Amino acid sequence: MSILITGGTGFIGSHTVVELINIGETPIIVDNLSNSKEIVLDRIQTVTGIRPKFYKTDLCDAEALDRVFAENPDIESVIHFASLKAVGESVAIPATYYYNNLVSTLNLCEAMKKHGVKIMVFSSSATVYGDPAEIPIKETTPLGITTNPYGETKKMIERILADIHKANPDWSVSILRYFNPVGAHKSGLMGEDPKGIPNNLFPYVTQVATGRRPFLSVFGSDYDTHDGTGVRDYIHVVDLAKAHLCALRRARTVNAVEHFNVGTGHGYSVLDIVKAFESATGRAVPYKLVDRRPGDIATCYADATKAKEILGWQAEYDMVDMCRDADNWQTKNPDGYVE
Ligand code: UD1
Repeated sequence: MSILITGGTGFIGSHTVVELINIGETPIIVDNLSNSKEIVLDRIQTVTGIRPKFYKTDLCDAEALDRVFAENPDIESVIHFASLKAVGESVAIPATYYYNNLVSTLNLCEAMKKHGVKIMVFSSSATVYGDPAEIPIKETTPLGITTNPYGETKKMIERILADIHKANPDWSVSILRYFNPVGAHKSGLMGEDPKGIPNNLFPYVTQVATGRRPFLSVFGSDYDTHDGTGVRDYIHVVDLAKAHLCALRRARTVNAVEHFNVGTGHGYSVLDIVKAFESATGRAVPYKLVDRRPGDIATCYADATKAKEILGWQAEYDMVDMCRDADNWQTKNPDGYVE
């Protein structure tokens, strides 16, 4: 029995592959390498002793995807990570985002249907709550108006999967709404490898701390938060990876569409992160307060009770672990994955 992992060489996908191998599962990776590198497979092999089967395949190519299923009749479930995910880029090239994220998912669902695969865990995002109607955010909190095409594709795919389940009640779909995944594998062999200038806070902080960039721009210091800077729910990528294992176990036993917030339930401001990073690593993070970034919200953190009660999952790593592991990865791999 194997599990198809779309986007399995990416940041969250690769960490999930490691955790799956650790519990004796057999992941098969499909990735078009548009935002990841094949060397990740070497790292997975070093960490686990096993090299997962890999297809360099674009999910938008329906025939190629069909061949992957045909060649692997033992695929019993799918964890669907593959997606374009840069918020700013999605505003600049919306059609590309809608096309890629939606067509790839529709092709995947068609291939699953054709090959009798009925179990999916899907990577969604807290971005579907828009500017959240309540804090902490529960799964019952109404979905909001997304601020960018990337976020809208996540919301649309959630709806598509719910409709597919309605028409095919024997399908089982677990939708994980990620908060802010950060950190890295403790080996320092795997981590986040953004192209160019990082958009997200953590990779930017680690690059400032290691001297690759001079200072952090703190986007906005006049939010209605304890220190005026944006508050988020940061979660260690290995905790997030383990949530997929729990979601998969659950999806194997119930035929339903279920949504789970995957966060720690704690909110940290940007300045909290700067301080936490400095004290965990002993490195300075110079920063400047600048204007707000368009589309940002003040506060976003999870009520993670449902995942604990139904999936039996909760975050184990704390902010010190997140800072230390992110710094360890950045220090050992200053230019990310180099082939
Ligand atoms: C963004 C996306 C989210 C996506 C997540 C992970 C939106 C609105 N946001 O979340 O969908 O799932 O990335 O990829 O769709 N910050 C700085 N300086 C920086 C970078 C960030 O001050 O250089 C601040 C931001 O203003 C924010 C916090 O740090 O308050 C976190 O930002 P970021 O890491 O980009 O994540 P989000 O915007 O929360």
